[in-house]
Amino acid sequence: MAKDSNPGTSRRWLVAVIALAAIAAFAVAALVVNIFERKQEARNPFYRVVELNDTIDDPAQWGRNFPMQYDLYLRTVDIQRTKYGGSEALPHSPTQADPRSAIARSKLEQDPRLKVMWAGYAFSKDYRERRGHAYMLDDQTFTERQQANPPGACLNCHASMVTVYNQLGSGDMFKGFQAVNHMKYPEARKYAKHPVACIDCHNPKDMQLRITRPAFIDGIRALKASRGIQNYDVNTMATRQEMRSYVCAQCHVTYYFRGAEKTLTFPWTKGLRVEDIMAAEDEDKVTEWQHPQSGAPLIKPRHPEFELWSLGVHARSGVA
Ligand code: HEC
Ligand code: HEC
Ligand code: HEC
Repeated sequence: MAKDSNPGTSRRWLVAVIALAAIAAFAVAALVVNIFERKQEARNPFYRVVELNDTIDDPAQWGRNFPMQYDLYLRTVDIQRTKYGGSEALPHSPTQADPRSAIARSKLEQDPRLKVMWAGYAFSKDYRERRGHAYMLDDQTFTERQQANPPGACLNCHASMVTVYNQLGSGDMFKGFQAVNHMKYPEARKYAKHPVACIDCHNPKDMQLRITRPAFIDGIRALKASRGIQNYDVNTMATRQEMRSYVCAQCHVTYYFRGAEKTLTFPWTKGLRVEDIMAAEDEDKVTEWQHPQSGAPLIKPRHPEFELWSLGVHARSGVA
């Protein structure tokens, strides 16, 4: 008889094939499950205690998901001067009009010539060193520059604004922004609850950086247009490295209030050099006040941190 019809050998082969098929099926299934799990993980890149969304502006809530970043955020209350500078606030006896228990040093006292230079303008009344983000809302609310009855537009850079814009603009950020600009400061102030917070720089869905300030969206579009780039949309076209600086440039820039609407405007239509900014404001006929002694029409540029940085070696080298 032919030896190849040995029934024992073919059965062993059959068993081996079935076993291999089972192992392969198991491996494929395991791989599919693993891919599925990784995809789920990618959708949830961090452990969530709270489900965040665009209505939650309280940084303490965000802090429940990100305790370490929240801890760093809270440290902006620090008022110790270091060898790198920083404001050392002075004790202040709280009054009904000004309940702050500490305030930053007066620059007007450090250099009395500033009072002469800014005579007739709010800055001659009160101008102090800046300090940490934790104080931005109080320092604006209680500065003696409030005597000049400033517009709600001031609030854009001194508070968490995402929920305020959404509320006043019924979900339209630009409408909300315009509504804030038009108001008088005390009215606008009623809507603000926190200094700048996580929601102002981060998308609650995935924590990606985002720009939430219409004045910057318009300002950077005008700047790019002056360099031949049309219809620039910062939230879709900026690189991640650029965003790391742009989030700060929503506030640390010079500005003016345009026209009767008091629209907060960054004068970048011609570039970021001081000559470009002067030319842009001259073209828009901006005068902030007239000096009582000299009669000269004047403007006072503010904190151009982003502009100076942009013109320097750091920006040129791609550092954020
Ligand atoms: C919503 C507007 C806003 C944004 C966005 C913002 N800042 Fe500020 N920043 C301020 C204001 C206003 C102050 C001054 C607060 C005060 O003096 O009460 C300030 C103060 C500071 C100070 C001075 C702190 C001290 O102790 O003297 C530093 C440094 C600073 N900001 C860095 C940054 C950086 C870096 C970013 C981006 C990651 C940024 N800021 C984003 C508005 C902003
Ligand atoms: C474009 C954003 C922006 C707008 C608009 C803005 N601020 Fe500020 N403000 C800042 C930044 C940034 C600082 C901290 C940097 C600095 O003072 O050098 C600051 C600092 C201050 C300070 C603390 C230091 C000081 O000057 O005494 C006060 C008070 C203040 N602002 C009041 C106001 C008032 C009042 C208005 C409206 C007329 C206003 N801010 C509008 C961004 C802004
Ligand atoms: C003024 C803007 C600003 C505010 C306000 C802010 N952040 Fe950030 N945050 C940044 C920037 C810029 C980065 C760096 C992003 C990058 O590397 O691309 C960052 C990074 C992070 C990261 C990622 C860290 C990592 O290692 O990848 C987390 C998480 C975070 N922030 C949480 C928070 C929380 C929580 C708050 C509020 C308590 C907050 N941030 C407030 C600007 C801000």
